[in-house]
Amino acid sequence: MNLRAIVVGISLFVFSIWVEGQGLSYNFYENSCPQVEAIVRAAIQPTFLTDPTSPAAFLRLMFHDCQVQGCDASILVDPNANIVPSEMAAGKNFGIRKRESINILKSMVELQCPQQVSCADILVLAAREAVVVSGGPQIKVALGRRDSPFAPSYKLADSLLPSPTIGVDGMLQLFAKKGMTVEESVAIMGAHTLGVTHCLNILNRLNQADEGGQVQGMTPGFEAFLRLNCPQGSLTSNTSFVLNDPTTLTFDNHYYNNVIGGHGVLRIDAEMVMDPRTAMVVERFAANQDDFFQAFSSAFVKLSNSGVLTGNQGVVRKSCNAID
Ligand code: HEM
Ligand SMILES: *[C@@H]1O[C@H](CO)[C@@H](O)[C@H](O)[C@H]1NC(C)=O
Repeated sequence: MNLRAIVVGISLFVFSIWVEGQGLSYNFYENSCPQVEAIVRAAIQPTFLTDPTSPAAFLRLMFHDCQVQGCDASILVDPNANIVPSEMAAGKNFGIRKRESINILKSMVELQCPQQVSCADILVLAAREAVVVSGGPQIKVALGRRDSPFAPSYKLADSLLPSPTIGVDGMLQLFAKKGMTVEESVAIMGAHTLGVTHCLNILNRLNQADEGGQVQGMTPGFEAFLRLNCPQGSLTSNTSFVLNDPTTLTFDNHYYNNVIGGHGVLRIDAEMVMDPRTAMVVERFAANQDDFFQAFSSAFVKLSNSGVLTGNQGVVRKSCNAID
């Protein structure tokens, strides 16, 4: 084989990786910041140690970023005089935490690789570390996302983020738009193996009791538990919460066992068990954690690749919370 054939061969190979990841690649920072993944992994550890609930926050933060105009770090932009109000003013971003931690990670990356690595990539890497540190799968993610040069309105964010009372139909439609199969859609909901839900987001479901006075899809005992912990008309509905599953700090398949047992906190948790499209998948993930981890990993990749800006699109922000 002559040199030209090799060069053509290699560039075809590189091109195919490029297209596959919509402009993202596994060696994107090979020259500009080869140590970026190690920097993020080391820098995020203290956050995990000082706040064991932070993995949940990072994972949800990535979802809410990717759900609104793609994974472009727009959720990190603080409101200021020019952008009033920001995406964060959306009611559906209630409970979003740890945005400032991504800023800190970014400043640590900037020290070693100034102006190279996007906030959007750092956010995806943080979410990936959050999963693995909690006992979940090690997910390989492609990099090369660029940051949005502007922040969308809170109205757009509210129209694109799912309602806390969404059902199986809406959920499957939402993730089908990201190229997910039914199996992957059920798997990505397994993110609710981590974290909490505030009473604010539970009261509307408790209000939807049927004629018999029962809320669909939960055991009477669990309903009583929720009513006790999230009383109607309480002044603390925005601060009190319940755990999404009993092993809230561990990324495992308990979420699926929990929802099968009628202890799902949100309507979608309960409906996935009953809907014929999703029920078998829920059962399988409850019985086999490896199956869940595998489907979650491919779903995570699809979520984190959705609607990304690449190449000359967008910018690499200097600080994640401000548009320069
Ligand atoms: C139809 C889709 C979804 C709906 C309706 C939904 C809804 C919710 C709601 C209402 C909460 C509680 C927020 C609070 O009260 O503080 C929550 C928490 C959470 N969600 Fe989702 N979610 C969905 C999909 C996802 C996805 C795809 C992920 C990640 C890949 C995710 C990760 C999380 C995490 C980790 C928490 C806990 C956050 C914390 O403890 O701070 N969710 N979700
Ligand atoms: C609770 O949160 C909701 C949604 O963000 C907000 O509209 C409401 O004003 C908050 N209530 C209190 C008492 O802080």
